[in-house]
Amino acid sequence: MVLHKGNPSRPDNPGGTNPFYTGMNPALGAELTPPRERLLDIALPADTALQLVRDELMLDGNARLNLATFVTTWMEPQARELMAECAEKNMIDKDEYPQTAELERRCVAILADLWNAPDPADIIGCSTTGSSEACMLAGMAFKRRWSKLGRTGKPNLVMGANVQVCWEKFCEYWEVEPRLVPMEGDRFHLSAGEAVAHCDENTIGVVAILGSTFDGSYEPVAEIAAALDEFQAKTGFDIPIHVDGASGAMIAPFLHTDLEWDFRLPRVASINTSGHKYGLVYPGVGWVVWRDRAALPSELVFNVNYLGGDMPTFALNFSRPGAQVAAQYYTFVRLGREGFRAVQQASRDVATYLADKIGELPEFRLLTRGDQLPVFAFTTAPDVTAFDVYDVSRRLRERGWLVPAYTFPENRTDLAVLRIVVRNGFTHDLADLLLGHLTQVLSDLAKQDAPTHDPATSTGFHH
Ligand SMILES: Cc1ncc(COP(=O)(O)O)c(C=O)c1O
Repeated sequence: MVLHKGNPSRPDNPGGTNPFYTGMNPALGAELTPPRERLLDIALPADTALQLVRDELMLDGNARLNLATFVTTWMEPQARELMAECAEKNMIDKDEYPQTAELERRCVAILADLWNAPDPADIIGCSTTGSSEACMLAGMAFKRRWSKLGRTGKPNLVMGANVQVCWEKFCEYWEVEPRLVPMEGDRFHLSAGEAVAHCDENTIGVVAILGSTFDGSYEPVAEIAAALDEFQAKTGFDIPIHVDGASGAMIAPFLHTDLEWDFRLPRVASINTSGHKYGLVYPGVGWVVWRDRAALPSELVFNVNYLGGDMPTFALNFSRPGAQVAAQYYTFVRLGREGFRAVQQASRDVATYLADKIGELPEFRLLTRGDQLPVFAFTTAPDVTAFDVYDVSRRLRERGWLVPAYTFPENRTDLAVLRIVVRNGFTHDLADLLLGHLTQVLSDLAKQDAPTHDPATSTGFHH
């Protein structure tokens, strides 16, 4: 513990009257530094501990100005209240908290319905910590299904090079060969032709993303499914699709109702989403649903009986907070279809408005327009030589905005972009403030001779 002698002239002198320190043990007669490597020898009063930790957290950024993350940064006070009430509930303890388990079941059923599952009585699914865990579970189901076919080669998984890192992790952890289809020219995600060209008898599945983390675009799930139908007709190999709808599976059911990307396509075996992205819940909750029980090999499901009940579970972690599941159910109750449509539409309106305005600036070229996910990517126009996207990102950060700059994956690593994620709570007013700052930043940057960024210290790729 580091104790600094109290300085009576300082306003935060614990012996003085500063309200921040009223909870401190006056017997210490000194100013505390919170522990960095070792526990303190003594206990502190709760108010003092709270203030010390709050002070540290002041250094975090302002989440509402973070245009890099897809993760929910604003919920209604009622939802926060509910989450605080559920703080002690452990999701695994389904015997002690049967109603939380029932809310989880209802959420799974609601999602299966939103995703047009053919037989609501036959679906199976669960909550997870986020989409990464959900994707791992879906990938494990694919691998087990494939190994039961009796094939002997090394299993592979086909996906675009634009997949989120969780899929590369899955392949590494579960010893599956990742077949990453590179980008080509202006094709920034997986195409049907390329997907099929990478499949063979050891392909455990194809991952289609709705939508891409890199630019917000939807991959053509229906075209990929049709191409795999043809492939099966020619080769006999029946390759299932998993839709990684981390963001889009909570957007498309409300804004792109005619788009067939979900269980309407018989080849789609499973779908995941992040409840904590466009599911509008604070982190961390994700969901994965299989179209029917046959798509999830039963030996992967464990029966937990030592907490007093006998419940099937499929998850990587055992204990997990129940509050997020209650909060997910709250958003479903609160918004209904109409409310969800309105919230997602508002985000898309802001995204397309902002994309149009940025597209009008001669300094930039849009890659996507925010009309699929409310997310768009843009880069500098070819004749811009005084600065680059990293300069723009850094200068916006000085104004509090977090707009990440990053390069695209193989074969377009030459392309560096900025990306804006519009989420619930990002208003037209905030968009106009951002545009105002962007215009000022551009006029400053135009005075430079050349880009000044150091890639090592640039804002990285987020989520
Ligand atoms: C397409 C996609 N898949 C998976 C993930 C991982 O999600 P999570 O952060 O919920 O684990 C993300 C995160 O951004 C994503 O965009």
